Amino acid sequence: MQLRLSTWPEIEAYLARSTGILVPIGSMEQHGPSGLLGTDAICAAEIARRAGAQADILVGPVIELGAAQFNLDFPETVGMRAATLIHVICDYVRSLASQGFERFFFVNGHGGNVAPGNAAFQDLYAERSYAASRGNHRGVRCRLRSWWEYPQVGALRDRLYGEWEGLHATPSEVAITQHVYPDSRREMSLDKPPSLHDDYYRNFSNDRHYDAEHHRREFPDGRIGSDPSLATPEAGAELLHTVVPEVVADYRNFVAEN
Ligand code: NI
Repeated sequence: MQLRLSTWPEIEAYLARSTGILVPIGSMEQHGPSGLLGTDAICAAEIARRAGAQADILVGPVIELGAAQFNLDFPETVGMRAATLIHVICDYVRSLASQGFERFFFVNGHGGNVAPGNAAFQDLYAERSYAASRGNHRGVRCRLRSWWEYPQVGALRDRLYGEWEGLHATPSEVAITQHVYPDSRREMSLDKPPSLHDDYYRNFSNDRHYDAEHHRREFPDGRIGSDPSLATPEAGAELLHTVVPEVVADYRNFVAEN
């Protein structure tokens, strides 16, 4: 069930049976020479759409833009500052909370959203924590889960692509977009990029990158240790089949928390 394809009486009826919602969040940024700019939002939206359809969960509007300043030296990247994204997430949650929604599960497609997302949640909780009177309302709860975090998904990515999964413009995310939009596939043979050291993962995973000029100098074609030419629509289907049940189970545990 998608919010943008629903009417208000249908949402009112949904609220009578659930106060939870899935929120896909991505980024509009380069994904290497062969990946779509909207890759992160496409992956998050498709995973949320399928989870919502399987388990009668409402899916909110996709947040298409993310925190991506480090990619601004590539043409077409549209990024938000961390502070802007925090405001967007807070107002998104406050809007729906004012109507009775209480549990917000963000399906995330972009590492750079992890820190601002979790900061936004802390600010939302602080509004209730600092309030003189907390009333009877339970207060909102939020969770942000990046789709690649689940162990089964990690194992599949490892089996499919091993080292060449890399950190950005990964064949896994490109494969999902190819499955969702088969006509969008760019056939391109790419050289293997330099291997990433363990230190790189420790220091820079979840997009803890420096500024845009530095980032483009370090990764001239946008890939970070990945070979997205290995992506296939079939692998995208397998990834979706693996991740969607994990999201449904994770969401159910989240909304059932005391
Ligand atoms: Ni991405």
